[in-house]
Amino acid sequence: MKMKIESSTDLVKLATEARENAIAPYSGFRVGAALLATDGSIYTGCNIENSTLGLTLCAERVALLKALSEGKRHFEKVTVVTDTRMLTPPCGSCRQMLWEFCGDVEVEMANLNGEIEHKHMAELLPSPFDRRHTDG
Ligand code: THU
Repeated sequence: MKMKIESSTDLVKLATEARENAIAPYSGFRVGAALLATDGSIYTGCNIENSTLGLTLCAERVALLKALSEGKRHFEKVTVVTDTRMLTPPCGSCRQMLWEFCGDVEVEMANLNGEIEHKHMAELLPSPFDRRHTDG
């Protein structure tokens, strides 16, 4: 579902602001994320690139690691904001991490034009590898 929103939600606004801090001199692709915990707290992140390229951290994982390191363990929703016509879903590595720690949360993708789309993690990462396999 893709629709135009009239006013920014808090998460979109916070992810948009976080995007301003992106360190993306190599790709030029700036991403902001905001992760909502079930207690109502929100953790933001931006992508952070460096000269090895391979050690780049995506905005979603920065937000997630910030939240986890503050003791948060239960989440409701993650928002990703980019300045692109085609909205940006979490990459494969982020999907794996988000599934592990957030489960089947809502994934909100938005751009600077106010376009927004919602999916769920189970749709983005069907048949995931997770603790059920290692514990089973
Ligand atoms: N990136 C993110 O931060 N999140 C995504 O969902 C997709 C990709 C970043 C990684 C890299 O800094 C740049 O976007 C180009 O791939």
